[in-house]
Amino acid sequence: MRSKSDTVMPRHIGIIMDGNGRWATKRLLPRSAGHRAGVKNITPVVTAALEAGVQCVSLYAFSAENKDRPKDEVDQLIDIIRKHIKPMTRGLIERGARVTFSGDTTYFPPDVQQQLADIVGENTDKTAQTVNILLNYSGRSELARAARLAAKSGEVTEAAIEANLYTAELPELDMIIRTGGEKRLSNFLLYQAAYSELFFTDTLWPDFDKSELKELIAEFGHRTRRFGRV
Ligand code: IPE
Ligand code: IPE
Ligand code: MG
Repeated sequence: MRSKSDTVMPRHIGIIMDGNGRWATKRLLPRSAGHRAGVKNITPVVTAALEAGVQCVSLYAFSAENKDRPKDEVDQLIDIIRKHIKPMTRGLIERGARVTFSGDTTYFPPDVQQQLADIVGENTDKTAQTVNILLNYSGRSELARAARLAAKSGEVTEAAIEANLYTAELPELDMIIRTGGEKRLSNFLLYQAAYSELFFTDTLWPDFDKSELKELIAEFGHRTRRFGRV
């Protein structure tokens, strides 16, 4: 029998938390209610992943392209971040996790940027399990930025690009889960996804729970990863 310690555990799971709007529309609620339900769902799912022994979870919370939504929705999303980011991350930090952010956070209003800086300032243990939240994130922009920074400090090698990604200190992205039924990456961690195992579920993000997460992690354990070899 396989004991718990034999289970192949992904080191780093990326989650594309999609389907909040449809979740709300199905209930005849405004899309913002779906975003609030989505935020509420982060702590239980992430906690389950950390308890299972995953070292890092990257959460796609707000893409650079999401800024092109109607101004009302963008303003509501920023308000939700303003209201929930501290209480949500405090809980995770209290249970020993480290919180990082990826993306161009200079886009956000100064008070929100200050909150993000405060949260990062609370991180003490660099070796702790990490919750990496993607805010105003674009995979293409991240790559262009990494190339610019690499060029500034010398040769543009793969290693130099990797060292300048937001995720430089995080483990390999072993697994990507996208909820909400779409089968695409939508500019999520493009470089890091090179050899990720991909999982797509029709479950809308607010309905995605720890039992489904555990099923997908178990399925990950059964996949054969070849990395181009035989
Ligand atoms: C994902 O849910 C959350 C964000 C993109 C901020 P959506 O808002 O994309 O929900 P759907 O895809 O319209 O249902
Ligand atoms: C991806 O979802 C972004 C987040 C989950 C934050 P989208 O709803 O923005 O993706 P598309 O537009 O369907 O590709
Ligand atoms: Mg969507």
